[in-house]
Amino acid sequence: MVQVVLPNDANPLGFILGGTVMHLIDIAGAIACHRHTRSLLVTAAVDDLQFLNSIKVGDLIILRAHVTCVFTTSLEVQVEVYSEETLTGKRQPTSRAFLTFVAIDRDGKRVKVPPRLVETDEERRVCEEAQARRAERLRRRDSAQASM
Ligand SMILES: CC(C)(COP(=O)(O)OP(=O)(O)OC[C@H]1O[C@@H](n2cnc3c(N)ncnc32)[C@H](O)[C@@H]1OP(=O)(O)O)[C@@H](O)C(=O)NCCC(=O)NCCS
Repeated sequence: MVQVVLPNDANPLGFILGGTVMHLIDIAGAIACHRHTRSLLVTAAVDDLQFLNSIKVGDLIILRAHVTCVFTTSLEVQVEVYSEETLTGKRQPTSRAFLTFVAIDRDGKRVKVPPRLVETDEERRVCEEAQARRAERLRRRDSAQASM
């Protein structure tokens, strides 16, 4: 996804709002997952998010999303965010996020996600890393539930 940062997206310093970036990350991640599952989805989790560089009004914000691993009714997607200066083309990474989406039907019941073809060693490594993040995320969810 590519979008120009407009004044309405920005704080008084002229930098894009963190919440706007989060919104776009959610949308880009959801689009990649929809294209894999062709189902309805809900966002179950967003892993910790850093804003490494600011993106100013007039820059382009570029979001690149790809599914890393598919589980049973859930899947993980990685979203990388870059800024690009329109006049120079200078590109900088600004954020990276991992999101988990859960596939549901129109009654809100969870549905199985189609498998993802894993063909290369790199794809296998990416999926193994996603499985480790999933275990950690579920552990954190359980401890959050226990403390609420
Ligand atoms: C996300 C949600 C569907 C999970 O349902 P649940 O019945 O509580 O969860 P379960 O423990 O049965 O897990 C269902 C699946 O979601 C995954 N999941 C649930 N919570 C998760 C979390 N916090 N992080 C990662 N994965 C999670 C589980 O791993 C499981 O995946 P699997 O089938 O691939 O193994 C439910 O909590 C929900 O509807 N949350 C609100 C979602 C929402 O409103 N999002 C924002 C707007 S879209």
